[in-house]
Amino acid sequence: MLSAVFFIGAIMGLRASHIHVQFTDDAITCYTCQGMQNNTLCNKWAPDIPCPDASTVCKTVHVFSGADGVSVSVTKMCALPEHCTEAHVGCNAVNNTEHIECVSCCSKSYCNKPVPYTASTSRELSMELLISSSTSHLFSFARLAVPMIECIFVVLLCLFA
Ligand SMILES: *[C@@H]1O[C@H](CO)[C@@H](O)[C@H](O)[C@H]1NC(C)=O
Ligand SMILES: *[C@@H]1O[C@H](CO)[C@@H](O)[C@H](O)[C@H]1NC(C)=O
Repeated sequence: MLSAVFFIGAIMGLRASHIHVQFTDDAITCYTCQGMQNNTLCNKWAPDIPCPDASTVCKTVHVFSGADGVSVSVTKMCALPEHCTEAHVGCNAVNNTEHIECVSCCSKSYCNKPVPYTASTSRELSMELLISSSTSHLFSFARLAVPMIECIFVVLLCLFA
């Protein structure tokens, strides 16, 4: 019975190390600029440097005039996933100005070339990330479910030993 527990433990250990490799992404590269006047200038300037490992998302912040749509400021950066979620995506009026700020987030190299102008373009540009974040919820459930099933299996083994 004890050896059965060790055996299951070894399987779970193997599985955990396998998951670790499977879920590690390679570093991505984002267009990166700070407060450039418009998107053309930002993309032209952006240096081609991979993001730090933990920054798996590209974030774009576009501020433009609500009156005529002319860009005021474009900022693009590598971001931690928790700083670039569905809650961050979209557009807001900037305090006491006629400026609007739209944010988009995505997770493939060079995915942040375009800038968002509306709530729907913010979502469109972020779509691939929004979809993959809902599937990663699914994965994290699966990762939880497998050890749970194995635990139940061990308990059953003990009961019938
Ligand atoms: C971006 O800004 C530069 C500098 O002001 C200007 O020459 C260029 O025409 C602008 N590009 C667009 C697409 O607005
Ligand atoms: C908006 O106003 C608040 C309070 O006046 C201020 O703390 C904040 O920095 C402002 N935000 C922007 C984006 O200007």
